[in-house]
Amino acid sequence: MATDRLIDRFGRLHNNLRISVTDRCNIRCTYCMPEQVQFLPRADLLSFEEIERFVRVATTLGITKLRLTGGEPLVRRDLPVLIEKLARIPGIVDVGLTTNGILLGPMARTLHGAGLRRINVSLDTMDPERFQRLTRRPGFEKVIEGILAAREAGFDPVKVNAVAIKGETDEDVVPLARFAREHGLELRFIEYMPLDAGNAWERGKVLYASEILELLAKEIGPLAPAPDQDPRAPAVDYDYADGGGRVGLIASVSRPFCGSCNRVRITADGKLRNCLFALDETDIRALIRGGASDLDLAVALRDSVAAKWEGHQINAANFIKPERLMHSIGG
Ligand code: 5AD
Ligand code: SF4
Repeated sequence: MATDRLIDRFGRLHNNLRISVTDRCNIRCTYCMPEQVQFLPRADLLSFEEIERFVRVATTLGITKLRLTGGEPLVRRDLPVLIEKLARIPGIVDVGLTTNGILLGPMARTLHGAGLRRINVSLDTMDPERFQRLTRRPGFEKVIEGILAAREAGFDPVKVNAVAIKGETDEDVVPLARFAREHGLELRFIEYMPLDAGNAWERGKVLYASEILELLAKEIGPLAPAPDQDPRAPAVDYDYADGGGRVGLIASVSRPFCGSCNRVRITADGKLRNCLFALDETDIRALIRGGASDLDLAVALRDSVAAKWEGHQINAANFIKPERLMHSIGG
């Protein structure tokens, strides 16, 4: 075999696997899915055993970090059982979860007990009415409860992800920052990307990282680039000069971080994607259910990474939006 590491044509080393455990969700964020969705039949989802097997193979190629996503991962039955299995796999050093927080409150302790250490909660607004408009569902209070329960359960840091949409969440930037400062949360703003249902995305709706920074500096106080930046992380971190914490900016559109991408993704139905915006997928589920060997799976993973392109082309005239919507990729 040419290499036992997942290195692509651009020298990027891949150690990070994002696993979508379901395409279902208990809310309906407009930037992610349509109101009416045809969800996958249960039999199409990878079983826990299938996920575990694939992860074991992936560790032999240098995958060390996992993140469980959805849809909403907490609607997948017995998720803590899967977390426990994955956290125990030799070579896995870190298991994270990205959740909308609705079901988090009562589950936070169990998740921590299962070995989960990193948690990101999505919350785009501090206004319950706007929450309902953005997600087409009630539940704001539950999310807040979930975030605070995660803190209580020992998750540190708890990260809060806010998608920033111009004309929609501009007024939420400062209240979200105040809430995060008050509770010692790491808030990260994500520029709105064209992965939404109904093609509502347009450049004019991207609230740029630079604009967010300006707003924060003006309304809250001066910020300085964090001294201990992880150059491979998508977020650029800033510290408040008054010591009131940290805020991250994920400038996915205005400053793509594809050059340091270390991620591959597998969808709930077992399709391997080498990029959020990939147009091609590798059908891992078909391989597994067709009796593929561990070596076959390893080769499929290596080939997928080898074929990875340089980066997304959101800013190019010939950009092609992938057919899959965000809820079935996992973010
Ligand atoms: N643009 C940017 N971020 C998005 N997310 C979902 N859809 C989009 C989009 N169109 C974010 C969610 C969550 C993560 C899984 O991806 O808010 O934090
Ligand atoms: Fe659900 Fe997450 Fe999509 Fe919102 S962004 S609809 S929480 S999967």
